[in-house]
Amino acid sequence: MASAPAQSIGFAVIGAGAFGSNHLRVIRELSAASDAPVRLAAIVESDPRRARALHSGFPHTRIFANVDACLAARAAGEIELHAASVCVPTSAHAAVASALLQAGIDVLVEKPIAASLAEADALIELASRHQRILQIGHLERFNPAVLAVHPYIHMPMFFEAHRLSIFTPRSLDVDVILDLMVHDIDIVLSLVQSPVRSLQAVGLPVLSRKVDIANVRIEFASGCVANFTASRVSTERVRKLRFFQPHQYVSIDYARQDLLFIDVKPQPGAPDPGSMLSGLAVSKPSVTPGEPLRLEIESFLESVRARQQSRVTGQEGRAVLALALDINAAIAEHATRAHLDRFV
Ligand SMILES: NC(=O)c1ccc[n+]([C@@H]2O[C@H](COP(=O)([O-])OP(=O)(O)OC[C@H]3O[C@@H](n4cnc5c(N)ncnc54)[C@H](O)[C@@H]3O)[C@@H](O)[C@H]2O)c1
Repeated sequence: MASAPAQSIGFAVIGAGAFGSNHLRVIRELSAASDAPVRLAAIVESDPRRARALHSGFPHTRIFANVDACLAARAAGEIELHAASVCVPTSAHAAVASALLQAGIDVLVEKPIAASLAEADALIELASRHQRILQIGHLERFNPAVLAVHPYIHMPMFFEAHRLSIFTPRSLDVDVILDLMVHDIDIVLSLVQSPVRSLQAVGLPVLSRKVDIANVRIEFASGCVANFTASRVSTERVRKLRFFQPHQYVSIDYARQDLLFIDVKPQPGAPDPGSMLSGLAVSKPSVTPGEPLRLEIESFLESVRARQQSRVTGQEGRAVLALALDINAAIAEHATRAHLDRFV
């Protein structure tokens, strides 16, 4: 790995749209500390109206219209830049992140890693060749409820994931699998660690031209089964993951950052219907609240500083993308079989 920056990390946010604004807020909060680990050195935003509006909020930060201009200013010694987060639409992740990696900048790429496996492979190869940190923005890994559940994982065999959002006209360059379901796919893959044996999927476009609602059933080689439901056309917002392992039910609410366990005490002998419920113990392990995005960015900065592998690697991001694309292929195959073209 290349050497660490000597002082605080010079940082750029590329793409200051809906989610990039959150990255900007977190970087600003982190850089306000007396021993700040990071300084906001640049913002890159291609929409001139959005870029103009940024000047008043960030009067001391250089704002560029494209990555090339930002890198030219760095090469000329006008700004000091070590790391960046890539918050442009998914279809532009690969082009933007490649330019940064080639210039020797560590990169946090928003999820999903890229729009295709070829693009994902190219990013992983570039990061390796230039000895750069590449982290993928699967931020639920940093959700305090997910962090708190890890010590209790022993043999999850059945997952039920629900991620429902109210429609907003954003991230429409991708479908609901790449937009929302990837969060749960990443968490389940990180907890199961077993190859996929089979998958079945159904999905429909409702308001956009791409799949807006989908349900997927995956069976892993271990026998574990995961059901995923994701919608961006719901009437309510839900972010839940539930799973069963021997003698235990676990419920994670990502949004409320809480955890509920129901343990079942095994009863010797034949089950007695009268005492079955008395064998249940409900508990709520404590969770230290925190903003997942802030924890994710802090973890990325620590990897940059210590020159250590990121907590969500390019390979892990690629595995999520590969499964997401397989799900999309299964959805397309089902749509043909079921003559769902009338929904398009
Ligand atoms: N981790 C999460 O929970 C989460 C949530 C929302 C979005 N995202 C991800 O964040 C990314 C951005 O999503 P969004 O909703 O903020 O989109 P957005 O359209 O609101 O913002 C993207 C911004 O990037 C700018 N842009 C486009 N191409 C550019 C380029 N080449 N150089 C510089 N600027 C460019 C656009 O003008 C726009 O302002 C997507 O990859 C999305 O999947 C992640």
